[in-house]
Amino acid sequence: MSTHVEKDAVTGTDTTGHEWDGIRELNTPLPSWWVYVFWACIVWSVGYWVVYPSWPSATDYLKGTFGTTNRTQLHETLNNVAAERAPYMERLAALDLHEVANDAELLNFSMAGGKAVFADNCAPCHGTGGVGNPGYPSLLDDDWLWGGTLDDISQTLHAGVRWTENPDTRFNEMPAFGRDELLSRDEIGDVVQYVLAFSGRETDATAARRGAEVFEFNCASCHGEDGKGIQELGGPNLTDGIWLYGGDVATITETVTNSRGGVMPAWEGRLDEETIKMLAVYVHSLGGGQ
Ligand code: HEC
Ligand code: HEC
Repeated sequence: MSTHVEKDAVTGTDTTGHEWDGIRELNTPLPSWWVYVFWACIVWSVGYWVVYPSWPSATDYLKGTFGTTNRTQLHETLNNVAAERAPYMERLAALDLHEVANDAELLNFSMAGGKAVFADNCAPCHGTGGVGNPGYPSLLDDDWLWGGTLDDISQTLHAGVRWTENPDTRFNEMPAFGRDELLSRDEIGDVVQYVLAFSGRETDATAARRGAEVFEFNCASCHGEDGKGIQELGGPNLTDGIWLYGGDVATITETVTNSRGGVMPAWEGRLDEETIKMLAVYVHSLGGGQ
């Protein structure tokens, strides 16, 4: 290999002087713009090491003069959100439910906030947007077990339903008429026929007539003489065609035989007061609020 630099006759470019078996290498330098960018990148990276977290050290890592971490960035974002929400949360805390519902701005805020909290905490039972599931009432309609005013809803949310850990919980237990042998199979059959008649469905008239008497003695105390329900007792209206568990003969028979006793946890203590207010306002405005 010789190292004799000369000009290549065809291209007019210098050779590197390297030659292998008569093959010589042209010396074509990198374009100067490329070289400048290359050096600029190196200089930039040194600056980057200094201000941002970079190299690992024996026990830790170089933190950089800006002190940037994903954690500080997250905290900053969260603090910004909290700061934006703070004035609303303060007003939510200061005002009572009705004032919140009557304040256009707070109503808006509560609708958005309530919707998000609802999706996280309530939708698993009550369905997306509160459409309801068997055993979990729809919150969109005018049919209320425990009452649909702002105060009723707020009370239900605070104390839950049949949530015995909370002394103020909504509580009422329908007896298991069949299981506990309070009524015979025939009596249950009769009263079910009577219940069907409430929502205008075809029934065995003779059985229903017998069932009327069973109803009066065993059911009216919670569901009302006319079957329209008693809200203070959480006794559902049996006449409106809206069913918590189901309105076919088999399901009604099952309800009367074994009873149900659906449970909702109390939200007091799990969610803060402002959030419960937002939720109450949200649920109230879903469509069925009274
Ligand atoms: C574990 C399931 C469950 C969860 C979670 C749940 N609920 Fe309930 N909720 C129920 C049941 C069951 C009832 C009805 C109980 C009954 O009276 O038979 C109920 C009843 C209600 C009622 C009363 C409805 C009426 O007709 O009077 C309201 C209002 C309500 N829930 C709102 C909420 C909100 C808001 C949340 C979220 C913070 C929530 N629920 C979360 C199970 C649940
Ligand atoms: C001590 C009060 C009480 C008595 C008495 C009572 N119920 Fe109930 N009933 C309730 C409550 C509360 C519910 C709500 C469901 C639950 O327990 O989750 C209910 C639910 C029902 C349901 C389900 C409604 C639905 O929407 O799915 C039917 C049907 C029913 N009762 C029929 C009867 C009949 C028939 C009798 C008499 C044989 C009777 N109940 C007696 C309190 C009572």
